[in-house]
Amino acid sequence: MKKIAIFASGHGSNARKICEYFSFSPHIQVVLIGTNKPDAGVLIHARDFNIPAITFGKKNMLEKNFIEENLLPYEIDLIVLAGFLLLIPPSWIQHYPQRIINIHPALLPKFGGKGLFGSHVHNAVKASGDAETGITIHYVNAHYDDGEHILQVKCPVFPNDTPEQIASRVLKLEHFYFPRTIEKILLAE
Ligand code: GRF
Repeated sequence: MKKIAIFASGHGSNARKICEYFSFSPHIQVVLIGTNKPDAGVLIHARDFNIPAITFGKKNMLEKNFIEENLLPYEIDLIVLAGFLLLIPPSWIQHYPQRIINIHPALLPKFGGKGLFGSHVHNAVKASGDAETGITIHYVNAHYDDGEHILQVKCPVFPNDTPEQIASRVLKLEHFYFPRTIEKILLAE
């Protein structure tokens, strides 16, 4: 059984889709949900799916024994960031090389980097006048939205779209492709 941890800071709709997708999988199991926000929606999903959850802050992530005490016991094969807003420290990347992935709701390297998350991304896409946007699933390195790309999928942006309409089109792509990409990565090993 391959084991994944999902970290999210917000509603956690992607986290929920991933939990649903793997809930009867004989090969892949969500073993841990993590968040930096004690009121994050993702904690409700953790409860619904009976998955252990932890809440931690920026400082905790830098503590010497944090990984040993909180993550290693779960024997995690892949850490999935699904709307997780804290920067991943280099020590985590050393522990989990090519084992942390993120989803970004735009076609990186456009509309990525510090401060470009959630609605900020879709507002920027709208303001740019670009005729397409999409999703990027990528490995995580020590910089925001900067690691090697695993998958990009495009969708159109229509001239009269509001940022909310763009966001909802992109979120549908995320919900479809994120669980399937996780599966592909883990089953290819
Ligand atoms: C998604 O658009 C994801 O790409 C971004 O944050 C959003 C999280 O949405 N990184 P949700 O919390 O999964 O609903």
